[in-house]
Amino acid sequence: MSGLPTASVAETAKVFAGIVAPTLAGGVIKRRPRVMTLLEKMQADASAVQTLQKLRARHGDGLLRLAVPGRSFALVLAPDDVGRVLADSPEPFTPASLEKKKALSQFQPHGVLISAGLERDRRREWTERALETSRPTHHLAPSVRAKVADEFAALGPGPLDWDTFAPVWWRMVRRVVFGDHARDDRTTTDLLERLRLSANWSYLLPRRRRLREEFLGRMRVLLARAPEDSLAGGLAADDEVASQIGHWLFAFDAAGMVTFRTLALLATHPAQRQKARQDLASGAELGYLRACVLDTVRLWPTTPAILRDTTKELDWHGHRVPAGTGLLVFAPLFHRDDSRLPYAHSFVPEIWLDGRAQEEPSLVPFSAGPGECPAKNLVLFTTATVLATMIGDRDYTVDSSPKPGPGRPLPATFDNFSLRLTGHP
Ligand code: HEM
Repeated sequence: MSGLPTASVAETAKVFAGIVAPTLAGGVIKRRPRVMTLLEKMQADASAVQTLQKLRARHGDGLLRLAVPGRSFALVLAPDDVGRVLADSPEPFTPASLEKKKALSQFQPHGVLISAGLERDRRREWTERALETSRPTHHLAPSVRAKVADEFAALGPGPLDWDTFAPVWWRMVRRVVFGDHARDDRTTTDLLERLRLSANWSYLLPRRRRLREEFLGRMRVLLARAPEDSLAGGLAADDEVASQIGHWLFAFDAAGMVTFRTLALLATHPAQRQKARQDLASGAELGYLRACVLDTVRLWPTTPAILRDTTKELDWHGHRVPAGTGLLVFAPLFHRDDSRLPYAHSFVPEIWLDGRAQEEPSLVPFSAGPGECPAKNLVLFTTATVLATMIGDRDYTVDSSPKPGPGRPLPATFDNFSLRLTGHP
């Protein structure tokens, strides 16, 4: 068995400059708005994808090891390999990669994503029970609908930007997760934001233990008071649960960004908007709007870098992969692969409804396999409900640039923080 093909030092440097550095600068755990605006100006994801496509053309589409001192690290370049790596998680491809453990333990020391073995199984099991992973619609749907309607009614017509949208989003999230008593508890979500900013630095910053204790302490108090009609209702008020819910809150931030971007797509794509409105009129499960959200995450994945570590030595198509090798699946490489996908740069929610997306193992907006996002259905339901409320009786226009639209390729990087819309009654 030979070792994996290895990128040259110059190629590795290009991967760092074009993919790793911009991803880290944008903030992996908490996005940095100013850097995101800059990355959008540079259309950073377009050059990242081109760099990887060139490496794939040169080295073939197996795993490509990077010339990194002190750490075995490889890129996943083939669509089928994405499917295999994610399907075979957590053994031999654990989601609890070194980098993720360092970063996420800032605010979720017991998080399922950074757990292994029986502990991971147990945490995943109760997480799935609470989030009702396998049900398309959570049993708390009526209460979520009412909270969304309540909060989003506050958004009148007129200018809408991230600073107007985000506070409404967070009031809704705190009510859905902890109940109405948490509606205005900004202190807890602000504390989480500070911890997440530190988590962006993964290895480089020490744990902020005192801040983390304060955050987990506040979470335990919120948990102890969580009513039946909240996601946290009935869960224990301990550090284990507080830690998982730290992840839920963190991930609801991504869901807010996706909702805002989907609104911009619906504002600028009349055909899709019309279909979404028909969906509302049918009073069904908002299947088309859910597909709109899925396609938005395909176009701009909120977890662009899916990381796995190998837990043992492997034979990969005749090549030896040492135990402890870090693997990077850079989702935009696959989601925007215009050599294979005719819809790569367009907004096509239909692919999620007619089976085309399911045929592609490397379209993984919510990951896939045993480590797939356990909140996928809950997120799709909640975001679709928010969008239904917003577009139900109002049209929006996009006032900022770049303005997405049907007749031209969509931007590779699309910054939610500088996006501005106007609602028209
Ligand atoms: C648009 C919103 C969201 C997207 C696109 C998303 C996507 C993902 C992805 C790609 C992963 C895999 C990460 C990895 O393997 O490194 C993941 C994991 C996870 N997500 Fe989400 N997520 C979203 C929102 C949420 C929300 C709101 C929650 C909780 C309420 C949540 C709970 C989780 C958990 C607990 C995991 C870890 C699963 C495991 O390791 O078994 N996510 N999500």
